[in-house]
Amino acid sequence: MDEELTKRKVDHVDICLGKDVEAKTVTTLFECVHLIHNALPDLNFDSIDTSTIFLNHKFSAPILIDAMIGGSPISLKINENLALAAEELKIGMVVGSQRAGLSSSSLAETYSIVRKKAPDIFLASNIGASQLVKGFSKEEAKKCIDMIGADAFVVHLNPLQEVVQVGGDPQYEGVINKIHELTTQLDVPMIVKEVGFGISKEVAIKLEMAGVSAINISGAGGTSWSAVEHYRALALGDKKRSNLGQLFWDWGIPTVVSLIETKKAVKIPIIASGGIRTGLDIAKSLVLGANLAGMALPLLKPATVSKDAIVSLLQKVIYELKTAMFAVGCRNVQAMKRERYVITGKLAEWKIVE
Ligand SMILES: Cc1cc2nc3c(=O)[nH]c(=O)nc-3n(C[C@H](O)[C@H](O)[C@H](O)COP(=O)(O)O)c2cc1C
Repeated sequence: MDEELTKRKVDHVDICLGKDVEAKTVTTLFECVHLIHNALPDLNFDSIDTSTIFLNHKFSAPILIDAMIGGSPISLKINENLALAAEELKIGMVVGSQRAGLSSSSLAETYSIVRKKAPDIFLASNIGASQLVKGFSKEEAKKCIDMIGADAFVVHLNPLQEVVQVGGDPQYEGVINKIHELTTQLDVPMIVKEVGFGISKEVAIKLEMAGVSAINISGAGGTSWSAVEHYRALALGDKKRSNLGQLFWDWGIPTVVSLIETKKAVKIPIIASGGIRTGLDIAKSLVLGANLAGMALPLLKPATVSKDAIVSLLQKVIYELKTAMFAVGCRNVQAMKRERYVITGKLAEWKIVE
């Protein structure tokens, strides 16, 4: 089982590095959000402050390296590079699912390396929701937290991925009760995220009521886990699941729709992720009400190269964010939350029939 899990992790990374796993026809809908140009910003570009506070931790920019890696030998170097980059840039990071790290001390090191290399960052643990209903205990959650000195505990919701995945575990009955139970048992705040299919307002409300401290909406338009599992099923000769992955390739709530819905529905902080590719996407996320923006796939390839490769990509993104802040005339992240915006096209047409 452990070997199977490690092999799956390796397959996921290989597929994400080698194949086109992003959404094809669905988009984030950031292209339908327009910020309002300010021809008279009363500030200097160099005085723009991108720093922010999230769950009592200071970030130099509102960026989170979203959950990806751990649990296979190749993940050690990748996580080390991500950690070094996060520490240098003073941003946050979530490790990949720690299930593998619970069963083997050598695999645990592929996660604990992150805290060793990034002693000061906001760092979060990660486990899949289907584990929760299969008897995942508060002791195991605490082990995950201790493994990396975590500041928060992230549970990922991935029901669709579990169905499409060869060897997946689509067991979700009782997940919300387990989430509630864990929020009362852990000493760190809990964050719940999707993996790229989005959070609806109904789910957001349930999560807030269950005591969750923040939601990462991880909507559609970026990495498609149906796509990843399609390729894996194809390679393993599982025709049923490879077809399913193709059919559900573009499933999900576009990131912007999920962000707007969730923002309206709950008061807890929100992380925008799923297809965040530029600093302009992050600027739009802030204006739409997000507290942070998370990025995963774009950081994977640079993470196989070096810390500097990740830093240089993220510095470009931060420069783009600062440019957007200057162009709307906002000196800091707080001011972005008060900005007006325009929606057009498919986003304006999006209507949920109740
Ligand atoms: C290689 C890879 C591995 C991932 N593994 C996890 C994981 O273990 N746990 C999790 O919560 N999300 C995982 N994700 C999902 C991301 O955290 C994120 O929600 C999703 O990829 C959408 O963001 P993106 O479009 O920027 O990639 C993974 C993503 C990638 C690319």
